[in-house]
Amino acid sequence: GVSPEIVEGCRELSVSDDQLKQYMAILLDNINRGLAKDTHDSAIVKCFPTYVQDIPDGTERGKFLALDLGGSNFRVLFVELGDKPDMKHKLFQIPQSIMVGEGDKLFDFIAECLASYAGELGMKDQNLPLGFTFSFPLAQKGLQVGILEMWTKGFDCPDSVGKDVVQLLKDAIARRGDVTINVVAVLNDTTGTLVAGAYKNPATKIGLILGTGTNACYVEKQSAAELFDEPDRGSGKVLINTEWGAFGDDGALDFLRTDYDKTVDENSINPEVVRLAVERFTKEGLMFGGQGSDALFTREKFETRYVSDIEWDLVGDYTKVKEVCQKLGLTNATEQDYINLKYICSCFSIRAAFLVSAGLATLINKIGDNKIAIGIDGTLYKLHPKIRGLMNTKIKQLINPGVSFNLLLAEDGSGIGAALVAAKAASNC
Ligand code: BG6
Repeated sequence: GVSPEIVEGCRELSVSDDQLKQYMAILLDNINRGLAKDTHDSAIVKCFPTYVQDIPDGTERGKFLALDLGGSNFRVLFVELGDKPDMKHKLFQIPQSIMVGEGDKLFDFIAECLASYAGELGMKDQNLPLGFTFSFPLAQKGLQVGILEMWTKGFDCPDSVGKDVVQLLKDAIARRGDVTINVVAVLNDTTGTLVAGAYKNPATKIGLILGTGTNACYVEKQSAAELFDEPDRGSGKVLINTEWGAFGDDGALDFLRTDYDKTVDENSINPEVVRLAVERFTKEGLMFGGQGSDALFTREKFETRYVSDIEWDLVGDYTKVKEVCQKLGLTNATEQDYINLKYICSCFSIRAAFLVSAGLATLINKIGDNKIAIGIDGTLYKLHPKIRGLMNTKIKQLINPGVSFNLLLAEDGSGIGAALVAAKAASNC
């Protein structure tokens, strides 16, 4: 069994239903503050209106390009919406030197990839409508205007902050002069995920990302979205990009924060809380004979996917756990270390699943429908073997009685979702 000291040391990671309910009440208050004109500027959870008023009805048709920036991959996509949607894409690696630095260089790089793929497809001069999936906090002023509030997830081009990213993209395309493309919409990956989910299942009211970052989008009444300033085109609804990744930045979640969270927040944009726990237990002499390895003691060496890998050890023969230990140079690991490491990972997984469940339960209760589907994308959700089951159980315990929900994998947000938003935008132009 797990060493009693490790169990004791992991106790701070458990979150009770009472704590989750407190989390939900604070999140709801934060969301309401983001939605209201008077409090939006100082709000932490910004709740930007996306200017997407409708979910798709299946009649959308046409050829579209899309860009997907802000997840673990940068992609250019081509989507054809017909009776059945068809999609292809090309991945491009963004060099670190482009992610951080001058904004124009980043947008020139994006335009270059776009021109290159459009060229491959023979579509450089077709003036195709493009949906720009740009997954960073954007204050939208319309479907085609998004002012960058700040960079996240490892990107940092300070001179672009405060500017309209659609204009920055258009300028970069114009600087090239070799490709004609019509940028008709900018959207967030959560928005694309919601729309793509709704295309498959009309009960979809929430889009969730669990990947490099976490964020959610949901369907709100226009009357409650006080920043939304366009005429109602009939639905009375508008999608809200919550940007809930910032939740707690003002200390509102300190009652749940552990030392691991604090250290990560101080030092890194990447999640590595598990490594910090294992490092601590090793230094206390409770694991790996008190020895550890250079990798274990080095920031960002314990990748998020290792947690998923370890959790895949479903039969309990520790093959996956051993592999991760090998990658980290933990050559002296014993069976007891494997048991303990797996236990630590499961404590963090449960905690993450419970916290995101509390977020979703807040939105489900706020939307108030009896039946709600949630479109979800992101590597964490896709790779982790237990997160879906944990979320199903916990959400059920936190939502209002009589409500049913459905977690739906919606991987096509930045492709089909972007095309659907672009289709609507092009038809309204
Ligand atoms: C992808 C979507 O599947 O998931 C992106 O195409 C999204 O738009 C991404 O940003 C999120 O997950 P990750 O793990 O790549 O950050």
